[in-house]
Amino acid sequence: MLIQRSFIDELMTRVDIVDVIDSYVSLRKMGHNFKACCPFHQEKTPSFVVFAEGQNYYCFGCGVHGTAIGFLMDFAHLGYVEAIHELAAKMGMSVVYEEGYSQATAISDREELYQIMKQATEFYWKQWQQPAAEVAKTYLKQRGLTGQTAKEFGIGYAPPGWDNLLKNLATSQDQQELILKAGLIKKSETGRYYDHFRDRIMFPIHDRRGRVIAFGGRLLSNKENEPKYLNSPETPLFQKGNELYGWYFARKVRPLEQVIVVEGYMDVVMLAQHGIHNVVATLGTATTREHLTRLFREVLDIIFCFDGDAAGQKAAWRALENGIPLLQEGRQLSFMFLPPGEDPDSFVRKHGTTGFHHYLAESQPLSKFLFDTLTQSLKLDTPEGQARLVELAKPLLTKLPKGAYRDSMLQKLSELTQVESSKLTTLIPSQQPVLARKNQSPPNIRTPLSLIQKAIVHLLHKPVLAQTVEYPNTKLSQLANQPDMLLLLNLIEFIRNRPHVTLAGICEHWRNTEYENTLNWLSRHTFQQTLAMVTQLDEEFVDAIKQFYREADKQRYELLTQKRPLTEDERQELQNLLRVS
Ligand code: UTP
Ligand code: MN
Repeated sequence: MLIQRSFIDELMTRVDIVDVIDSYVSLRKMGHNFKACCPFHQEKTPSFVVFAEGQNYYCFGCGVHGTAIGFLMDFAHLGYVEAIHELAAKMGMSVVYEEGYSQATAISDREELYQIMKQATEFYWKQWQQPAAEVAKTYLKQRGLTGQTAKEFGIGYAPPGWDNLLKNLATSQDQQELILKAGLIKKSETGRYYDHFRDRIMFPIHDRRGRVIAFGGRLLSNKENEPKYLNSPETPLFQKGNELYGWYFARKVRPLEQVIVVEGYMDVVMLAQHGIHNVVATLGTATTREHLTRLFREVLDIIFCFDGDAAGQKAAWRALENGIPLLQEGRQLSFMFLPPGEDPDSFVRKHGTTGFHHYLAESQPLSKFLFDTLTQSLKLDTPEGQARLVELAKPLLTKLPKGAYRDSMLQKLSELTQVESSKLTTLIPSQQPVLARKNQSPPNIRTPLSLIQKAIVHLLHKPVLAQTVEYPNTKLSQLANQPDMLLLLNLIEFIRNRPHVTLAGICEHWRNTEYENTLNWLSRHTFQQTLAMVTQLDEEFVDAIKQFYREADKQRYELLTQKRPLTEDERQELQNLLRVS
């Protein structure tokens, strides 16, 4: 952990979750709290509640809950560190790292790189006004691209000549170094700098938050020894195998239920122009596990749209191999093969939006594509063919996660091969470990709570109750070996030192620690309580603490009555214990 925990504690006391969430989802005030239709599941009446006091949110419909940091991670898909930076920036605070880590400089470097990429995007865009851009403009028009679409995707033009961008952006030596680092210029062997992209149509590549992190540049006409598309080199902002062109735009589709994966920049752009916005393209690479993991975080349904030729089939097969291990919990992959010679761009221009949708509706589910491909050259009416199919399917099906989908694939294989499915289950074991879900919490909110857990829930709900308990507390410490008593003690100490801490502040303080899951689970009880307007909280908490004291006394009493000889102090203590009981 790099960021100082005390910094996070401080940040949590300053941030207001209502502002944070309200900038993404519009909230309506309801008493002390705020409500909205849940942004994590589909609903018509609002059951998503933001608690100003606890600084948490909870959806009474789907059960999602979290803090401001958690919201930025789950809704805006930021990483943990990124989310903290985002909030800190909002509050005008600079993130404090543990000594020895100066990631702060690395982060500000990135900021400067984003800035340069933004300037470059603007530079390429402005070139459309130059006479030199006429040919490029005509080319795009002839391909059917409208000015509006070009604007939407920020498509620009890099003029011919060696140093147009360089001259325009490099206002200082430092700036020049930065432009180099951003992959926009190159250094020749003689030490001269020159523009990386020249006389190309420039497609900005955005990250999921809409920041430009790279470019793809297309030639206007084929040239020998020059790639049709030139991409930015890998930079601190850009790792080619991870990024998806168009993802930022696709993610804006609400609700986003399905994503179509295509191969080219122009495919994404032209489909969008035809009103099909849920489209992404890999950047000239095969579809990787990383790509699919990213997409499956937000949709259950991914459709690959490839050319109908052999290359398309091959690309689809690669995608299938990479995707199979990810097919759990209702996720699905399907495959759409276009007529030979067509790509999505040409297809949609020829057949229009409706034509594309019709074709889309005919896409093959993974099971069909898989078994069709494997059985292509097999004679399934012979034992040899059947055995061969089992062999071919085995390496793929072992990678399928356990679950209903895997079962039905085995069932299908059983039908095709006449091998009993129970036999196939042993023959093709699942190599996929059951995925340990993060934040795995005890299964059910209805699991009865221990008295200690109840006390924790009360404390989470109303941290100020900690003031009613002595600290340090020998009696409670005596019970430290009981499950969750240490957490209760830690909580009491923490809250006493930070009287204004909120439920969210508590959860963030213990994020990534052994207490994380328990705290998450117990927080959910507090949300339920808030709704029920439980009023006897204070009393219950005090009663619980009293009960712990009695237990501690009893333990102590039993210990002392068994002990021989007793010291004078112990004799005194035993007498006191006898008096109270
Ligand atoms: P295609 O050659 O199919 O291009 O490459 P396309 O998208 O249909 O482009 P147009 O229609 O001719 O303009 C598919 C993708 O492969 C990558 C690009 O990302 C391209 O969009 N590619 C292709 C490269 O990176 N470099 C190349 O030289 C060619
Ligand atoms: Mn094309």
